[in-house]
Amino acid sequence: MGDAAQQSRSARAAYFAALPWGQILEDAAQLSAVCRHDGQLADYIPALARVAPDQFGIAVATLDGSIHSVEDCATRFSIQSISKVFLLSLAYRSYGESLWERVRQAPSTNPFNSLIELELERGIPRNPFLNPGALVVTDALLSRHTHLESAMVALLRELAGSAGINYDSEVFNSELRCASRHFAAAHLMQSHGNFSNVVSEVVRAYCASCAIEASCVELARAGLFLANGGRAIEGGRQLLSAHEAQRVCALMLTTGTYEYSGMTAFAIGLPTKSGVGGGVLAILPGRGSICIWSPRLDARGNSVRAMKALELISNAAGLSLFA
Ligand code: DON
Repeated sequence: MGDAAQQSRSARAAYFAALPWGQILEDAAQLSAVCRHDGQLADYIPALARVAPDQFGIAVATLDGSIHSVEDCATRFSIQSISKVFLLSLAYRSYGESLWERVRQAPSTNPFNSLIELELERGIPRNPFLNPGALVVTDALLSRHTHLESAMVALLRELAGSAGINYDSEVFNSELRCASRHFAAAHLMQSHGNFSNVVSEVVRAYCASCAIEASCVELARAGLFLANGGRAIEGGRQLLSAHEAQRVCALMLTTGTYEYSGMTAFAIGLPTKSGVGGGVLAILPGRGSICIWSPRLDARGNSVRAMKALELISNAAGLSLFA
């Protein structure tokens, strides 16, 4: 990077760190409260339907290590599909560009658990954030990690700087008991030659990764490496190259909130990944990351209030990548 580019990057990071976060987050919490009762809990995983639905928290992490937060920002919740960002990062690190022989980088207008395109497109999932895509990524990882579950928890702990992060075994067992579609997707990919490991082992590792619990503060910290050119803030490990981190962010923008991704780019303008636990993680390249959590979901599986709050924050602070 040239001197001028480096200077403008540092100025952007400093501007972001100095925003009046206390006020911005209070306003977003207050204004998003109009939709606090909108949406449904993810009852297809029974343990998630037992979560207290009115919880809400926000945490912003900046590259200088500061955290700004409001409300239930320290309460751990099920990260669900947000884990796909970390699964993808581990697999990309391990396989490099050859990963894209098994999963594409295209958006989809079908739901995250749909199998329709998978059959039509010969067992190659559209992208790594759809469930079939994340299962293929998990399959690739299992070929190189004998203890993938522990590797995922260790990665989250390292990136968040928080030794308390762990799985929720109740959520894990609850999802595993209702995992017919995961098995169907995996077997379909296997029939097309795009699967290497024992299906049940891959499904277990995938469900375990989704059942990791973390708070808004922990997830915002864990996402910082993507804002920091692939380098962890905690410990300084270069997890991905800057180019790879940029590509993971591009996928989060174009596919991270599923059928809503076009609207996410339009209304929020940031790489964003949602999970059916109600969490939303947004990356601000070169600046920081934001995690918002509220359990009630829209029909696409994105948190209603968290997406609203993210839109309010992005607009109030002028955070869109296109601003
Ligand atoms: O595989 C599933 O269905 C869940 N473990 C994760 C889905 C999810 O979080 C979708 N995102 N909003």
